[in-house]
Amino acid sequence: MTPWAGSSSTPSLKGVNLVRTFGDGTARRAALQKVSMDLFPGQIVLLMGPSGSGKSTLLAILSGLLEPDTGQVLADDDGVLRDVWQMNGKEREHYRRKHTGFIFQGYNLFPALTARQQLEIVLKWGEGVSSGDARRRADDMLDKLGLAKNKHKKPAQLSGGEKQRVAIGRALVKNPSFMFADEPTSALDWENGQKVIELLRDAAHQRGASVLCVSHDHRILPFVDVYYHLDDGHLERRALPVE
Ligand SMILES: Nc1ncnc2c1ncn2[C@@H]1O[C@H](COP(=O)(O)OP(=O)(O)O)[C@@H](O)[C@H]1O
Ligand SMILES: [Mg+2]
Repeated sequence: MTPWAGSSSTPSLKGVNLVRTFGDGTARRAALQKVSMDLFPGQIVLLMGPSGSGKSTLLAILSGLLEPDTGQVLADDDGVLRDVWQMNGKEREHYRRKHTGFIFQGYNLFPALTARQQLEIVLKWGEGVSSGDARRRADDMLDKLGLAKNKHKKPAQLSGGEKQRVAIGRALVKNPSFMFADEPTSALDWENGQKVIELLRDAAHQRGASVLCVSHDHRILPFVDVYYHLDDGHLERRALPVE
């Protein structure tokens, strides 16, 4: 594949002063306290931080799944920066379907569907791709993920690493501009975890996607372009260790 040769000087997604609280009264707690983060095309960003520091909340807000109390999420929608949380529900749904891929903590695969079907339905239902094209694209993606032999297997017949790769294939198959991965390697050994990170890095470096990945694993650092740390709802950019 030809490496992506675009410019990465303009953010493709901007989170601005994001605040999100949960609970009422004395139980009220801020999960994010004025968090700002820019994502650029062609970059993979690592987000680390202790459990409960707000990482999943930030991913959910940036991807249009969870509304912030205050702040903005400005996303590049075909060359125009648009506020995701000012869109109406239908527009936001369209934005999410067209531009975002999400790899959830756990795999969230449909138990009754084969690996190939998990990818096909994203294209057929979400994108209106014809059955033949959906099958071809699903098979191409499964090939790339080293899952060609597993395409007729259901989740129960797949190992943890294979299920995670199917979940990644499902997020990548529609070529999203923004990829959000919430602890995609937590259930994997390092060999499989490394493969997963390489795939995410390729989505950024080869296709120009903006990738935001949450992980606790410091071994991922050499694979990423930018590194943020979130602690108790406060975000800080950190320097990458020099190799
Ligand atoms: N739906 C929710 N209802 C109430 N509190 C929540 C909810 N989601 C997250 N929180 C709280 O917000 C904080 C941040 O959560 P989260 O974003 O899941 O952290 P992380 O992903 O870093 O572990 C935690 O204190 C968590 O308990
Ligand atoms: Mg989390």
